[in-house]
Amino acid sequence: MEQNQTITMPRLGEAAPAFTAVTTQGVINFPSDYKGQWKILFSHPADFTPVCTSEFMTFGHLAADFEALNCQLVGLSVDGLQSHIAWLRTIEEKIDWHGYKNIEIKFPLVVDVSMEVAHKYGMIQPGESSTAAVRAVFFVDPEDKIRTIMYYPLSLGRNFDEIKRVLIGLQTVDNFGVALPADWRPGDEAIVPPATTCRVASERASGKEANLHCYDWFFCTKQISKEEVEEKLGK
Ligand code: BEZ
Repeated sequence: MEQNQTITMPRLGEAAPAFTAVTTQGVINFPSDYKGQWKILFSHPADFTPVCTSEFMTFGHLAADFEALNCQLVGLSVDGLQSHIAWLRTIEEKIDWHGYKNIEIKFPLVVDVSMEVAHKYGMIQPGESSTAAVRAVFFVDPEDKIRTIMYYPLSLGRNFDEIKRVLIGLQTVDNFGVALPADWRPGDEAIVPPATTCRVASERASGKEANLHCYDWFFCTKQISKEEVEEKLGK
């Protein structure tokens, strides 16, 4: 692909582009095979590379947490099936990193030698590399809509704590009908929908609305405990 060629990228709120692909767990139809589940579709530049290996070991280590959050992980790179299988076997059998070892990757790793899927998702960004995918992360909700997108460069490993926080945050937004402030974590205050009448705005400004803490009439929060979040999210 030419460096100045237009790259199409899916956008937030749009349906996740559909594809059928060979993976290390057999053929999958994305996203339709995972209807009703959250999905995290992520790309990595290449098999048998160190940053990617550290990322896969971390995802493998956290796999049960994502499963408990009703979230299916799907990886992708432009390598072939034999390479994927050999790399995942090496990770499981030989790599001892950061206290992680014997990590079995049970989620599907998509084979995308043609780069068809990578192009659909804007994962090939020629300024970074025209032969490898960047480190993209797509959060797709149970209705198959894209809710958050992250792109990292080839040289920087992703923050998995943040990936998990985003998933829990999106699920909390949907389940409790709130917005979440900067650096929110379960147990922190959540932002309630804005006042829609002058009367409610006045009540909020004077601190009269029960169970809310208002910093001003347009910025009110309520407490949702960590236990409530965990119970609702099925953790
Ligand atoms: C890595 O995963 O280590 C890596 C992959 C591509 C470029 C640079 C680093």
